[in-house]
Amino acid sequence: MDCAAPDIHLTYWLTSDLPEEPPATALDVLSPCERSRCERLLFGRDRRDFAAAHALLRAALSATANRPRSEWTFEAGRFGKPHLAPAIAAHTPISFNLTHTHGLVACAVVKQADVDVGIDVEATERHEDLSELAGEFFSIAEAVEILHLAGDDRERRFYETWTLKEAFIKALGDGLSHPLNSFCFRFDRCGTLRLELSDMVEAATWQFALLDVIGQYRLSLAVRDRSPVARRVVVCEATSVDARIAPSASLLRASPRLVVSTRGPLDRVARRHSRSPR
Ligand SMILES: CC(C)(COP(=O)(O)OP(=O)(O)OC[C@H]1O[C@@H](n2cnc3c(N)ncnc32)[C@H](O)[C@@H]1OP(=O)(O)O)[C@@H](O)C(=O)NCCC(=O)NCCS
Repeated sequence: MDCAAPDIHLTYWLTSDLPEEPPATALDVLSPCERSRCERLLFGRDRRDFAAAHALLRAALSATANRPRSEWTFEAGRFGKPHLAPAIAAHTPISFNLTHTHGLVACAVVKQADVDVGIDVEATERHEDLSELAGEFFSIAEAVEILHLAGDDRERRFYETWTLKEAFIKALGDGLSHPLNSFCFRFDRCGTLRLELSDMVEAATWQFALLDVIGQYRLSLAVRDRSPVARRVVVCEATSVDARIAPSASLLRASPRLVVSTRGPLDRVARRHSRSPR
């Protein structure tokens, strides 16, 4: 592909089959501060997912730039978005973001400093009040569209919209200081995604990808990229901190300038997960 912009590496790890305590290989690379945050979590599965997410991010950063996993240090922005500590960022231009929910952790990493990346995952659980939640948090157009859908379609669209909105907020780094109903996602009939903002020039700088993971999760990526060049997103599935296989995730939608590859690092690896999609 003739594409000058560095790839975005999106890696996820399905953790629900792991024992409900942090894998030793994950704990080993965490900083003292990460370990103490991990230990303070009440439930074993939360400690497992926290350690897995942070070790996965460290492994992805080390695959992008030549630095041992345990030697990455981070600082947080005004609303909590982590970035590389200035001493490292000065000579290692990287943007990244991290997400975790029960049973799935993921990160996105790109070797470029001036792009904003956000990632969010949610389990598509049954919930009685989806329309109410959409009315409370989404734009009017998004909430109306969800109201017009029935059953599983309504549920799916709710989580798709939710993760896209969260990924956008996370790329901005503003947290909930950014009103969630001040922007709107459109699911175009041609299979693409469109962000509506009051500033159309700004809206045009944003690209999104939406993935299904084993029929049980929706995973969204948001990228603010001022370059008009197409960019590749390489999706990988981790089976441990070190091992990667071809992903079982499938692409649902993407903006025109994101070229999403779900072939993974090894073309001939059998797909591992056979759980039936919902
Ligand atoms: C932190 C926040 C940005 C997202 O939180 P979340 O969806 O619960 O959590 P995720 O697992 O996706 O992401 C957490 C990770 O994002 C990163 N993060 C923290 N603050 C962030 C920020 N302001 N911007 C971007 N990333 C942030 C951290 O790496 C964090 O991981 P850690 O806590 O293990 O260090 C926050 O805005 C929030 O609580 N959102 C919930 C909003 C909501 O109710 N939305 C309604 C529907 S749209």
